[in-house]
Amino acid sequence: MSDVVVIGGGIVGCACAYELAKAGAKVTLLEYGKTGMQATNAAAGMLAPLIESPGPGPMLEFGLRALRAYPALIDELQGQCDLDIEFRPHGILKVVFDDPGMLDLRRRFGWQREFGFPIDWLDGETCREFEPRLSPRIAAGVFSAEEGGVNNQMLAMALERAAVARGADLRIHTRVTGFATGGGRITSVRSGEESFACDTIVLAAGARSGKVAALLRAYVPVRPIRGQMIALGGMSAPIRHIVWGPGGYLVPRANGLVFAGATVEDVGFRRRTTNAGIHGLRRMAEDLVPQFRAATLHFDWAGLRPGTPDALPIIGPVPEWPNLIAATGHFRNGILLGPLTGAVIARAITAGDWSGVPPEFSPARFTPPKRR
Ligand code: GLY
Repeated sequence: MSDVVVIGGGIVGCACAYELAKAGAKVTLLEYGKTGMQATNAAAGMLAPLIESPGPGPMLEFGLRALRAYPALIDELQGQCDLDIEFRPHGILKVVFDDPGMLDLRRRFGWQREFGFPIDWLDGETCREFEPRLSPRIAAGVFSAEEGGVNNQMLAMALERAAVARGADLRIHTRVTGFATGGGRITSVRSGEESFACDTIVLAAGARSGKVAALLRAYVPVRPIRGQMIALGGMSAPIRHIVWGPGGYLVPRANGLVFAGATVEDVGFRRRTTNAGIHGLRRMAEDLVPQFRAATLHFDWAGLRPGTPDALPIIGPVPEWPNLIAATGHFRNGILLGPLTGAVIARAITAGDWSGVPPEFSPARFTPPKRR
């Protein structure tokens, strides 16, 4: 019997398992494939609450909290494992090519300054002094000094190992096939012949969360949104910082490769890359840094982001089942928000303190479509 069964071994599930185990809960983590191999693997590891945000609001506030919590988490994890998580809060440069782009960037720069993070406006020339290989067509940019990136694969692995070291029971290749219920509560999670009895269930199954919830006739409206990525190499130090342009972003990794991403496609559960996607990403990379024309395509891959109808995460008790806690729907911000989600979920479950979860993220904000 577990206190908590966490469904889903992506970054959110691993963070929940780790924080719950750290708080003393007996945790079982069920992953239908291998941990960290779905959307978590397809991410570029950006930690960019300001750069990614459409504007002020609960998402931005939660994102800034998440970013501020990162250094302590990284210290904690690095002290427990010998993986290099490559935490690099060394800044992100957002650039634009033309006057309309500049207008929008200026507007964003205006409200972003109010959040107390160091950001600077750069003209085109200064952008190129900063990153000499940037295109001469770049008209202006904003440098956000405290945003950055992390090696998402290593972080997920570190969280998984830390959870297991604290006693979490990790079951990979364990697909949830059903639930047992009684007295208005879920009493156990089933995977084929196996049954995992528990008090509480955390639903952290990413893009598949809606499907898992449907096994319980619960409504968690998460939709897969494909993101394709490519890894470019064969050039020495093409860029030093993460560069974000109008059509996508470039993320330099410690191994010398540059990840270029990402498409945003509503194509159901199709997880393959496409020729059009790969070519579009190459073009985007070459527009930002023309020397990428000479780069080698090392590999391409894709993942399914967990999208929601209002682009906010879904965190909190699912109305149909009070002991089913959603921790999903992080859409484009899973790597940034995953660790903080784990921390607030653990506090809510083990101490009954929900104050860390923005009420706007509640699953109760959605009305289920009428059942026929
Ligand atoms: N966070 C970047 C993306 O989802 O493409």
